[in-house]
Amino acid sequence: MPLLVAMIASLAATGPAAAEDGYQLWMRYPASASQPAIEVARDTPMTRAAAAEVRRGLPTGAGPVLLALARDPRLQGLRLATAKLGDEGYSVQRITIDGRTVTLITGNSDRGLLYGAFALLRHLDTGGAIDTVALTAAPAVTLRVLNHWDNLDGVVERGYAGRSLWDWWSLPDVKDPRYTDYARANASLGINGTVLNNVNAKAVSLTAPYIAKAAALADVFRPYGIRVYLSARFSAPIELGGIKTADPRDPAVAAWWKAKADEIYRAIPDFGGFLVKANSEGQPGPRDYGASHADGANMLAAAVKPHHGIIMWRAFVYAETDPDDRAKQAYTEFKPLDGKFADNVIVQVKNGAIDFQPREPFHPLFGAMPKTPLMIEFQITKEYLGFASHLAYLGPLFEEVLDADTGVRRGETVASVVDGADDRHGISGMAGVANIGDSRDWSGSTFNQANWYAFGRLAWDPTLSSQTIAREWAAQTFGQDPAVIDAVVAIMAGSREAAVDYTGPLGLAHLMATGHHYGPGPWVSELARPEWNPVYYHRADRGGIGFDRTRTGSNAVAQYAPRVAKVYADPAKTPLEELLWFHHLPWDHQLSTGRTVWGELVHRYDRGIATVVDMRRQWEALKPRIDAKRWEKAASQLAVQEREARWWRDASLAYWMSINGLALPGGSAPPA
Ligand code: GCU
Repeated sequence: MPLLVAMIASLAATGPAAAEDGYQLWMRYPASASQPAIEVARDTPMTRAAAAEVRRGLPTGAGPVLLALARDPRLQGLRLATAKLGDEGYSVQRITIDGRTVTLITGNSDRGLLYGAFALLRHLDTGGAIDTVALTAAPAVTLRVLNHWDNLDGVVERGYAGRSLWDWWSLPDVKDPRYTDYARANASLGINGTVLNNVNAKAVSLTAPYIAKAAALADVFRPYGIRVYLSARFSAPIELGGIKTADPRDPAVAAWWKAKADEIYRAIPDFGGFLVKANSEGQPGPRDYGASHADGANMLAAAVKPHHGIIMWRAFVYAETDPDDRAKQAYTEFKPLDGKFADNVIVQVKNGAIDFQPREPFHPLFGAMPKTPLMIEFQITKEYLGFASHLAYLGPLFEEVLDADTGVRRGETVASVVDGADDRHGISGMAGVANIGDSRDWSGSTFNQANWYAFGRLAWDPTLSSQTIAREWAAQTFGQDPAVIDAVVAIMAGSREAAVDYTGPLGLAHLMATGHHYGPGPWVSELARPEWNPVYYHRADRGGIGFDRTRTGSNAVAQYAPRVAKVYADPAKTPLEELLWFHHLPWDHQLSTGRTVWGELVHRYDRGIATVVDMRRQWEALKPRIDAKRWEKAASQLAVQEREARWWRDASLAYWMSINGLALPGGSAPPA
């Protein structure tokens, strides 16, 4: 990294304003009184970035530190177990070398040193001691990627933290120091790729001026191990190439993409590849020509193959022609294509079958396509969870999906499908739709930063618990006072469930106001397409509520492995959390809790509010222990959240009551 950029970046991160407005994210290093002794055995842009970070973050007295590759001659006598670290893993430990005790950061590549540097700082910032440090880790997933839904005009689709970070106007000449801080934050988590533009892509992003702009960003990100990818519009050969078709089987189309890939790789030699949304929500794709998703993906894969690029092909196909159940589309279309994709294609599947709801059962494609690497896509930005205004820690959502048992093979979970170990796929991946914008605190609220953090940590290690991640994040973000950490973690722990409770309990989903998806709108029923209307999802009538996805309904349960399908087919076995996702039940249907469906719904709406009231109370108590600016902002947002949780409950209940004609169950007075 050019020295000047590093210096400016460091100023941006540590200037007086930074400390209090959340700019520093979880990298709020203590001010160091002395320059630690840091030795770097190899001088490359990446090792320089690693050393600069250690220099910036190492507390007084914690040196000396040595960054050296495992093959460094000086380390050969030490018999370090570094083979299993692979290309990206690290080991951090105390060693004695030439009679001197040092903290060694090592790995098999510069990337290992970079990640080791951040791991050491995390260890220290979460209360770990330097003299007992012993950290070893390697990522379980190869592609750990953010998806920016950033439009070229600066608007971020579903973005709630300001405008796009990328200033396309001033790029490639002006490299905002913030780009470096973005890269540092991602590298601190092990995120190693970023898709710069929206999946609803414009062809212009593939023209020479934009390639140059993307190349400038790639130059900034490279020392931090981050590759740049672009979303590609499938019809670009028509729009940019003047060809009459984008049919993937047409040689002229394939040749156009090959030339385009060559052009991009000339500017960005380590370009990652393309992300494609095809034949979904009006986007062009191979189906327009009667070709399959595999035909389309493989044609693009051939174009980037000579450069070692990959294609991330999305399975989120939401077509105009709606079958009986929108939730079935991806499986219906992709399952038959298993084994038909080129080896540098990875199919990117959303965590659930509909669309990033506060709770969805895991997507039935996980486990159903063993011959195809499947990349999971989570949404970090909270499109359906109250935007940036509501506090909802998504760690438990990510964890719940990753831990889900697919029922296909013994012990197989969504995480084990995603990491690809069982099937020995060459690539594996996790994508997160970014919640990052140009607001000073990056994500629109301090607690939203935790969702970016949790995504990155889980992409590195999908077995981490959301609770562990929350503790780590809280210590780095608010300091090591255990009382603060405990309270912050407690607030976070129940927050996603609270959002589920006050927006869509018992497996209800997609009841948000249409279009923007903020606030309640379960009554909407007049939009042109049936699945645009929330009534499509809840199917409430006088007799009952819920979407019958069993044999008597859409039979979406049959898309799961028999062992899982058996559970979901039976209302008595289906977890309450997913009940009305799979079943249409009478309002007075008796549940294991002792309440009826109606009584349980009311109970859970109330519970959601009670949790938010409690979150506020706990935050109030932290006032003396947290800097004013960050405290005030979160306090105001929590007040909004409480007000809107009540709005959600009251509007939802009034609507349900207009349908079922029932009174509120006795005794369930709403909390004050
Ligand atoms: C959701 C979201 C869209 C987005 C789409 C996608 O439907 O509302 O804004 O484009 O997902 O993932 O492609």
